[in-house]
This record gives sequence, structure tokens and C-alpha cells, in this order.
Amino acid sequence: MIAVVAAVIASLVAVLIRWLPESASEEMDRITFVFWFATIICIGIFALVAAVIIEAVWAFRVQPDDDTDGPPIHGNTKLEIAWTVVPAILVIAIGVVSAVVLSKNANAGSDPLEVKVFAQQFAWKFEYPGKVQSEELVMPLHRSVEFEMQSADVIHSLWIPQMGQKQDVVPGITTKIVITPTRTGDFTLICTELCGLGHATMRAPVRVLEQAAFRRWLDEQRGAGAGAGAAAGGTGGGQSSGGGSAAAGDAALGKTTFASAGCGGCHTFEPAGTDAQVGPDLDNLVADAKKAGEPEARYIEQSIVDPDAVIVSGYQPGVMPTTFGKTLSPAELSGLVAFLSGKEAN
Ligand code: CUA
Repeated sequence: MIAVVAAVIASLVAVLIRWLPESASEEMDRITFVFWFATIICIGIFALVAAVIIEAVWAFRVQPDDDTDGPPIHGNTKLEIAWTVVPAILVIAIGVVSAVVLSKNANAGSDPLEVKVFAQQFAWKFEYPGKVQSEELVMPLHRSVEFEMQSADVIHSLWIPQMGQKQDVVPGITTKIVITPTRTGDFTLICTELCGLGHATMRAPVRVLEQAAFRRWLDEQRGAGAGAGAAAGGTGGGQSSGGGSAAAGDAALGKTTFASAGCGGCHTFEPAGTDAQVGPDLDNLVADAKKAGEPEARYIEQSIVDPDAVIVSGYQPGVMPTTFGKTLSPAELSGLVAFLSGKEAN
């Protein structure tokens, strides 16, 4: 009796507290089911065993002045068979349910949306069909999205808490994960593998849209990509015909590159509105360049391409990725130099 009452109370406590975030994907629904399937079995068994122990300690305790030995007890075959068979069945059931859910959650169906994910310290980038790139992850409602994930440097891990699925992003291999959103709204993608000093800042906004709204968004991104390219070309032409402009790079492109490359995840830079403190404050670049005894533009470019060449006092070498020389295009690099040297502000 006591065991049953204890089991009921413990189960109520377990179910009435909201332990998990409200699900926003089919995969999360299944993960939540497995979680409760295993947890409720555990709670029931724990409550039963604990209650039997308490009952036994109370009912069979030694009476005062009783110095006799306890009765000799041989095993109880029926009991032993029961406590072997029942747990075996439960553990097998948990294993089977987990295997089914794992296999279902890995299945992207016949018409998934393929999204490439590029992770690097400390930023995410997403690429949609048609080479549409975005810093924001936008997903269509009720359609499976299959992520193909690559890392430029160390191991990261993709996780959107309300969508359950979690998968490491490992340099050198492409890992996959499937998410099928079940409600619209705003979420946050979190890097959940300690990947360096900026790990805690490595997040990306996630938005789930109705399918029609998603198609509109994707079309807009395609149009915007082409438009931005043309605009950048136009600006460049204007500058060169103007002649004698000190800024070789396009500061506007530099500003978008600053955001897309994730510079703000580690650096404070007022014109970009960032205030992270993992790396040096980029509002002090003029003074830092002077200390290093280099012209400002050269100092900035060197610090991006070869970040360990000069270390600002109070900071460590080996923290900033050394891959930007390869991952940034020459235009993006010169744009960043222009943006960081404040050519745009004036
Ligand atoms: Cu990337 Cu933690």
C-alpha cells in the first residue's frame, strides 16, 4: 500500500513540474516521449524499492532486549525470477523505443529542405539551395529540414532546445541532422560544445515561418543577394572614378562582413554596436597600431589574417581563429579594414 501511494505521489511530482521546454518539432515530440517513458519507469521502480525497504526496516526491526540471531533464510526462487525478468523486459522496452525514435528522427522523408551549416569560432552561417546565405536560420513549418554541417576549426554542436535534436559539427567530416518544425515563432540556436573563449556567445536567431512566408523570404534573399552584389560593384566603380580615395575597401561590405564573420562575438566595436570582451576592444585600434609601430591599415589586415603576429597586452595568443585569411574574400578583407579604420563613420 505504502509503495503504491509513494509511487503515485512521486509520479505526480514528476509530471506536474515542467522539466522540458514546450516542443516545437516532431523530433522533440518523440524525444519527449522517450524521456518520459524511461523516467516514469524509473520513478515507479525507485518508489517501490524505497517503500519496501522502509517498510522492512520498520516491521522487522530488532525489539529491545532481543539478543537472538535472526532466522536463517535461503533464497526465494520466485522472487529472484521476478526481479530478473521484470527489469529485463523494461530495459529491453526502453531500448526498442529509443531505437525506433532514433531511426525516425534521422529520417528526412522524401522531400527535405537541404540547408548547409557552417560553424566556426564563434558564428553560424546557413546556406539554402541556390547559394542563398544567411546568418539567421529560417525554417518552413511542417517540412523536414536536413542540415549538412561543417566546421572550419574545432568541434561545435548544434542545438535548438525546443526542437530537441542535437548534433556535433566536426572539422573534416560532414554531419547531418533533421528537424521538422511544428509551430511558428522565434527560437535560438545554441552552440552546445565548449569550443573556445567565445563559446557562450556562439548563438544564432531561428525563425519558423508558414510555408508561403518561407518561400517569400527565400525569394527575397535571392533578390537581395543579387542586388547587394550589384550595389557593391557600383560603389567600387564610383570610388575609383572619384579618384584618390584613401579607402581602398568598401566599408559597407566591411560592416556586413563584420557581422557575418562573427567578429562581434568576441570584440567590442562601437560602430557595429557590439560589446563582447573576449578579444581586444577594436575602438582602440589606432592606439594599438601605434604601440605595434605599424600603419593602421596594415596593422588591422595583419591582425585579421595572422592574429598572433601582434598580441595586445592582457590577451592570449591562439584564441582568434587563423583561418580568416582563407575564408574571407579579398574584397571582404579590404572592406573590413576600411570599416575598422573608421572610413565609413566619417
Ligand atoms: Cu561553438 Cu561552442
